[in-house]
Amino acid sequence: MRKPLIAANWKMYKIPAEATAFIGAFLPLVASQEKTEIVLCPSMTSLAVSLEATKGTQVHIGAQTMDWHDNGAFTGETSPVMLNAIDVTHVLIGHSERRQYFNETDETVNHKLKAALAHKLVPIVCVGEHKADRESGRTNDVLKKQLTVGLQGIDPAAAAPLVIAYEPVWAIGTGLTATPQIAEDAHKFIRAQIAEILSPAIAASTRILYGGSVKPDNAASLCCLENIDGALVGGASLDPTSFAQIIANSSI
Ligand code: 13P
Repeated sequence: MRKPLIAANWKMYKIPAEATAFIGAFLPLVASQEKTEIVLCPSMTSLAVSLEATKGTQVHIGAQTMDWHDNGAFTGETSPVMLNAIDVTHVLIGHSERRQYFNETDETVNHKLKAALAHKLVPIVCVGEHKADRESGRTNDVLKKQLTVGLQGIDPAAAAPLVIAYEPVWAIGTGLTATPQIAEDAHKFIRAQIAEILSPAIAASTRILYGGSVKPDNAASLCCLENIDGALVGGASLDPTSFAQIIANSSI
């Protein structure tokens, strides 16, 4: 019922020529992967070439962030209207690096989520606890707050495209992966929160991705649990073979 989604977050890597080369090598490797929604999130300067290179294929292009206004005096920002205009379909919202280095908060996540839904972009809202939160038993409190504020005021009738990415901060770029049990427990908790905040029907249909040191050799164990509907991949998505392998290993 929930279509698996695997997204690449390239972060601040790949100039346009590198994005084009990646896609040229990647497309043949995933040509038969129709069961999985595949999304590449390049940097802003590689969006145009990535859209061009994936035109007519099943691979979608997403942005790594956006502002929530349609336009205005917001130097350096990109709006949902601008993303729509070039056919970007997905957008990451509230990645932990955006929260850590660019002052994003649960409140800004909420503004961005509303804007993404209003503009028919598929929002991938990132949540996750820090190491200290987990060690002090506060993981669920942190997730609850991120979701309660992040999803505040969202009309359940318009929330169907919502995707959540559970990315424990201690697992991002560290090589430390959540065990399948830790990930499944967190995803189950997130789904229960969505049921409370939005509706049980939306909770049942919302895809919840796992992110944090997903690699070809751990993808199968992480992607196929009851409440895990795919992955958001950083480092291992930079290489076409490795990312295609993650997709293949997740769809067994
Ligand atoms: P890594 O896969 O490099 O740990 O990054 C995860 C991530 O931040 C994806 O958004």
